[in-house]
Amino acid sequence: MIIAVDGPTASGKGTIAKALAAHFGLPHLDTGLLYRAVGLQCARNGGNPDDPADALAACDFPDHLIADPELRSEATGGLASRVSVHPEVRAALYELQRAFATQPGGAVLDGRDIGTVIAPEAEVKLFVTASVPARAERRYDEMRAAGRLADRAQIEADLAARDQRDSARATAPLLQAADATLLDTSLLGREEAIARAITLAEMLSGS
Ligand code: C5P
Repeated sequence: MIIAVDGPTASGKGTIAKALAAHFGLPHLDTGLLYRAVGLQCARNGGNPDDPADALAACDFPDHLIADPELRSEATGGLASRVSVHPEVRAALYELQRAFATQPGGAVLDGRDIGTVIAPEAEVKLFVTASVPARAERRYDEMRAAGRLADRAQIEADLAARDQRDSARATAPLLQAADATLLDTSLLGREEAIARAITLAEMLSGS
């Protein structure tokens, strides 16, 4: 069974995807990490993330970059969102994601275009979202818990800018697939959101 979990940043999709993978005993791929690795590698190469050739060259990032703590930073998220605009970059990362999705036994993938582009045949498609203030609040709490300085207004502005860039791009924009089920987590706690996602996945897959 393939489970596709798409949605904007800080919507809870990563937490939900991990929990679904554990519940159904499936491998999980956070596809955002791939775009983050390309963005970070591009910056480290001294390249311009808005330039398609520089961004494409960075798709050759070394495997160990996936474990780099810098990958999780807001700055890297911004770089990821800029390199991910280029169709060349999306094409370069397609095969790896497609192979992961179609492995025997199935998989859970989370991202922006899993249900629309990478695995349109997925049995379960969830589009996880939440309001900008709810997502900013979570990101703020996460940053504070990690001992990092956080400015709530700045976080809200960054999230809105990233949503705008991800939704407006021509290739594989952030979009709810016509056959995806919407899960709005604005008013749900972590455990409630997970429980709701598991119930939906069981219903949709008939398991
Ligand atoms: O999910 P995460 O915030 O880690 O993703 C970082 C950026 O990577 C997103 O803002 C988006 O621009 C890009 N991305 C994408 N397609 C995916 C996953 C992430 O374009 N499947």
